[in-house]
Amino acid sequence: MPSPKLTITDQRTDKAYELTIENSSVRALDLRPIKENPEEFGMLSYDPGYTNTASCTSRITFIDGDKGILRYRGYPIEQLAEQCTYTEVAYLLLYGELPTAAELKVWNKEIKDHTMVHENIKKFIDGFHYDAHPMGMLVSTVAALSTYYPDAKNIGSRTNRRLQQLRLISKMPTLAAYAYRHSQGLPYIYPDIELSYTENFMNMLWRRAEPKYEPSPVLAKALDVLFILHADHEQNCSTSTMRTIGSSNADPYVSLAGACGALYGPLHGGANEAVLTMLDEIGSMERIPSFIKEVKEGERRLMGFGHRVYKNYDPRAKIIKKIADDVFEITGRNPKIELAKELERIALEDDYFVKRRLYPNVDFYSGIIYEAMGFKPEMFTVLFAIGRTVGWLAHWEELMEDPERRIARPRQLYLGPNEREFVPIEERLGRLQSQRV
Ligand code: ACO
Repeated sequence: MPSPKLTITDQRTDKAYELTIENSSVRALDLRPIKENPEEFGMLSYDPGYTNTASCTSRITFIDGDKGILRYRGYPIEQLAEQCTYTEVAYLLLYGELPTAAELKVWNKEIKDHTMVHENIKKFIDGFHYDAHPMGMLVSTVAALSTYYPDAKNIGSRTNRRLQQLRLISKMPTLAAYAYRHSQGLPYIYPDIELSYTENFMNMLWRRAEPKYEPSPVLAKALDVLFILHADHEQNCSTSTMRTIGSSNADPYVSLAGACGALYGPLHGGANEAVLTMLDEIGSMERIPSFIKEVKEGERRLMGFGHRVYKNYDPRAKIIKKIADDVFEITGRNPKIELAKELERIALEDDYFVKRRLYPNVDFYSGIIYEAMGFKPEMFTVLFAIGRTVGWLAHWEELMEDPERRIARPRQLYLGPNEREFVPIEERLGRLQSQRV
């Protein structure tokens, strides 16, 4: 059967063009022949913030933002969060299938084998000021790994890429824990390979003088679930950054450092930290109405609310809300949860939020749990980055194997001045000032 077509008529010329429809989309390059005069460049599509532009095909994560559905490689996030470990999900995201028990055993061992970082990394981290933000330290140390693994430049070899992916998944918790220990003035803790991925991370963060760190199974499970929930989210800002940098054939360490940088922003992964700052600022139930008023007047945003893709309750926020109670049973209740729930209740009934379809996103409740576990707000985005590392890498791998891969290079619509005559510096004051008035 021939492919369906989209017919476009250009009213400037009365010419009709037929564009092939594939996967409910048309190729932007098929717009290029549309022009008024033959010497014109041709038509572009204009899409600031890429709200309606697919930059790639992908087989990793499916989201239906209207229905609040999230699936990794076809599996619903709810089932993965309940029945898998983070490393199992990491395997699924990277390799496309859930591992068998034997495959998972090998995979977990491989991850453990790569957990340590070069001793010089400690010196590198020591160079940061005592109050350096852990995300700044993480971005820099991930980029620095590029200098330790020059073999990573061989991006054409699948075997080599797999080695780098393994290194990154294994070392991210170590770098994150070292950044935290540095900010606390505490000695760095070596990995304990008898513990699981998440338990070992807790060990590297919180072990003091005890000979063996014994993590709470409930908190370890909760953190593991949080890593699963953050593991991938298709073409978000940081993943697109990973793909953009990767498209220039840069190595995965510097590409991932760029992705971490994008995640750091408060409109993206930095929102979890911003939610806590916001709750601290609101402080009490009585302050909520005046805060909501400020939001509605456009003076500020309700952090942890709204999403480019979800126009329904973020399914990850639902799962996080549920695990909060398990965590609080161990840690005691974080009083901020009541403030957050009340904010949510008011917002979900308010016309401003209803009309714009603004619901809690993954970051609305995660920070409250992290804080109850003992994390400082500056660490929240670092935790997000650990979980998301595998998602960034799965997309990078997909990009490397994509026969349509080209360097990412968007177009622009130039609206600046036309060619004009150069003004020598001695004549500028008079001539340019009269033009500017
Ligand atoms: N609080 C108040 N108003 C909001 C919020 C919010 N959190 N989010 C969106 N709006 C309003 C906008 O002001 C706009 O209103 P208008 O139509 O009257 O101008 C409308 O809703 C649409 O908002 P946009 O900014 O156009 O939506 P966009 O898809 O570009 O932005 C984003 C999505 C960045 C997530 C936004 O909702 C936001 O800033 N949320 C708060 C930050 C946050 O929680 N980020 C984490 C997202 S999840 C993640 O990245 C892991």
